Amino acid sequence: SIDRTFIDSLPKAELHLHIEGTLEPELKLELARRNGVEIGQSTVEQVRATYEFTDLTSFLAIYYPAMEVLVTEQDFHDLAMAYLCRAAADGVVRAEIFFDPQAHTSRGIPFSTVIDGLWSAVQEAPSLGVDAALIMCFLRDHSVESARETLEASLPYRDRIVGVGLDSDERGNPPEKFSEVFAAAKDAGYRLTMHCDIDQEQSISNIATVLHTIGVERIDHGTNILEDPSLVAEAKQQGIGFTCCPVSNSFVTEQMKGAEIVQLLREGLKVSIASDDPAYFGGYVGDNIAALAEAQHLTRDEVVQLARNSLEISWADDARKQDWL
Ligand code: HPA
Ligand code: ZN
Repeated sequence: SIDRTFIDSLPKAELHLHIEGTLEPELKLELARRNGVEIGQSTVEQVRATYEFTDLTSFLAIYYPAMEVLVTEQDFHDLAMAYLCRAAADGVVRAEIFFDPQAHTSRGIPFSTVIDGLWSAVQEAPSLGVDAALIMCFLRDHSVESARETLEASLPYRDRIVGVGLDSDERGNPPEKFSEVFAAAKDAGYRLTMHCDIDQEQSISNIATVLHTIGVERIDHGTNILEDPSLVAEAKQQGIGFTCCPVSNSFVTEQMKGAEIVQLLREGLKVSIASDDPAYFGGYVGDNIAALAEAQHLTRDEVVQLARNSLEISWADDARKQDWL
């Protein structure tokens, strides 16, 4: 088997990481105390006991309410710094961090509070050896108008945000719901990615839409593409990046989807590995690579390829990429 020090020693990018999903029980308790928010839990064990779910829907039902402890700019800064320290230990040299502004603005936290707190952490990241960037995600179970307003609110901060994504509950919220918003985001200079979750029934048609109509550079999750070999060929030809999260998959579907991830990798697609919501799923990026390597008996060369892919499909400056690759 492949030892963990080898995995951690490889420079890598983490490209599928929801900052709100890095809220560890210890920090949740500290923020609740600091902000005087009554959360109904007072020990780490009690908080961890609430981090219980069986699928994406039950996960999201716990995930959004837990964010009530995030109130001030300092809270967002501290959340992001805690993640960046943890990522640096796993050899992450580039972190593209998802954030969900609507999960905060919808409960009265100003957009500026969220972005200012996260941005100050991004600026501090090089001191940890990490080049960090922010990707703003729209919540697909909110209205198109809300997404449009969020895009509008982001424009004064355009230079702090590298791209946009789409997350939350995919059921009944297909990518075409947001085609106009994504076209406007692209016009504003944002790079594009979208979640295509693994537990969906209309998954393959959503993946086709994401590739053909939305015009993304990356797909988050997306392993269901294997159901349509012509789409696999297209994604390969276009160099579409995939950000796969084996530990998260095993919570959402009771399977890592390891065989699917590795099949795409072996067919030459740009597959990378990431942690999604590590505080909830219990594994940071190194744990995710180690779990996949073990379950699928990856070779050292394949593990190296996963790390290289993550850097290649990252949205870092080309000069930085050349240094890492
Ligand atoms: N899918 C959809 N929404 C999410 C996810 C995910 O993997 N993680 C956090 N929000
Ligand atoms: Zn995700």
